[in-house]
Amino acid sequence: MAKTKDGTAGKKKRKKKAAKGGDKNGKSGDAKLKVGSEFETVFFANPKVDSPLPFRATHADERRAPKVILCADSRVGIGQRCKVRVSSIKKPASRDRGHIEVEFLSRVTFRLDDSIWVEPTLGKKLHALLESGMNILLDGPQGSGKTVLSRKIAEALGFEYVFFNCSSIFEATDFLATLQIRATDSGQAETVWIPTDILRALEGALRDPERRVLIFLDEFNRCREMARNGIMPALDSTRKLYNPLTGSTVDIPDNVLWIAAINNGAQFTGTTSVDPAQLDRFAPIKMDYPPRDEEIRILAERNPSVARSSIERIVDAANGVRKDEGLGVDLSMRATEEVCILLGHPNFSELDAAVAVPELLQTSFCARFPGRWDDASTDAGLVWQVIVRTLAL
Ligand SMILES: Nc1ncnc2c1ncn2[C@@H]1O[C@H](COP(=O)(O)OP(=O)(O)OP(=O)(O)O)[C@@H](O)[C@H]1O
Ligand SMILES: [Mg+2]
Repeated sequence: MAKTKDGTAGKKKRKKKAAKGGDKNGKSGDAKLKVGSEFETVFFANPKVDSPLPFRATHADERRAPKVILCADSRVGIGQRCKVRVSSIKKPASRDRGHIEVEFLSRVTFRLDDSIWVEPTLGKKLHALLESGMNILLDGPQGSGKTVLSRKIAEALGFEYVFFNCSSIFEATDFLATLQIRATDSGQAETVWIPTDILRALEGALRDPERRVLIFLDEFNRCREMARNGIMPALDSTRKLYNPLTGSTVDIPDNVLWIAAINNGAQFTGTTSVDPAQLDRFAPIKMDYPPRDEEIRILAERNPSVARSSIERIVDAANGVRKDEGLGVDLSMRATEEVCILLGHPNFSELDAAVAVPELLQTSFCARFPGRWDDASTDAGLVWQVIVRTLAL
């Protein structure tokens, strides 16, 4: 057909192609899908209930796929965007119109549930960093959600979660194994290397590339500085660690993601400074307490029996303390949660909130600081004065 000046023939051609399954630009998803192709899609339950492949999708990267896409891996989840790879393409058989079989790679929709608040720009940055496979360092005051966020990230991405507290690390090798003394059957003492959860996770991830593991190094700046050097080659392009069990190095496969958390600041005793070279191996994410309305929303959802007006007063008192320049202290969200939990307990829920809230603030807020709430020469007393001012008690 000759092409007309106004391109009518071209439009018709495009329409025809779209009807066959191509997109509005005339591109067909068909030609591009071959074994090994990777794309994003959303699965739903396969209506063929007896199928060994219980998850079914119809689109690949927003284009209609030439055949239905089927998957057996429950990690794809129903209604969740995920990345998959074509493992085989089945030709039509007598009663089957053929299908594309895929393997699960990762969850794409990085959506943290509403139970955690993350500053929106930070959330986007976090998502991009995670997709790029970069190491992340969460830095924030106590009780600002670092640990809980790391767990939510693992959930959102469908990763296995390995929690590792670095404060028990003394030697560089302790990240992978610890030397322990135990008694043999004959009662003799023997020393043995016990693999840590990190080593077990690394070995599992190496054995099975389908496994995706997030290793969370909590309290990263509470281990000896020299010991921390031991993990540095795992965090840069070397991606290797010395394994004391074998005396050789273990590879860190690409299906392993690292997130570390620190409390940074002079007020945190027991921490060691993370040197610039160590810091440089991470993309830093600065965390802070949720804004007032978000903290109230989260606490109200977790403590439905507590009056919203009481929760508002608790959060206002906390923010008064957190923002007071003279005090220069942090107050964890654990403290606001603690007051809410106590208020919801029958021992306090009977009391008039006007009495119970200030009483609980004295014990749960002020008691986190040295001194007494009724002694204005102490930190606890100064905190109480700020609360009195903030709530006009
Ligand atoms: N942004 C947030 N969204 C929802 N909950 C939060 C948030 N920040 C803190 N919390 C709540 O506060 C409590 C403490 O959080 P978490 O243990 O994650 O703090 P952290 O930053 O790891 O503290 P630390 O530095 O002391 O280890 C948890 O119950 C958590 O649910
Ligand atoms: Mg923590």
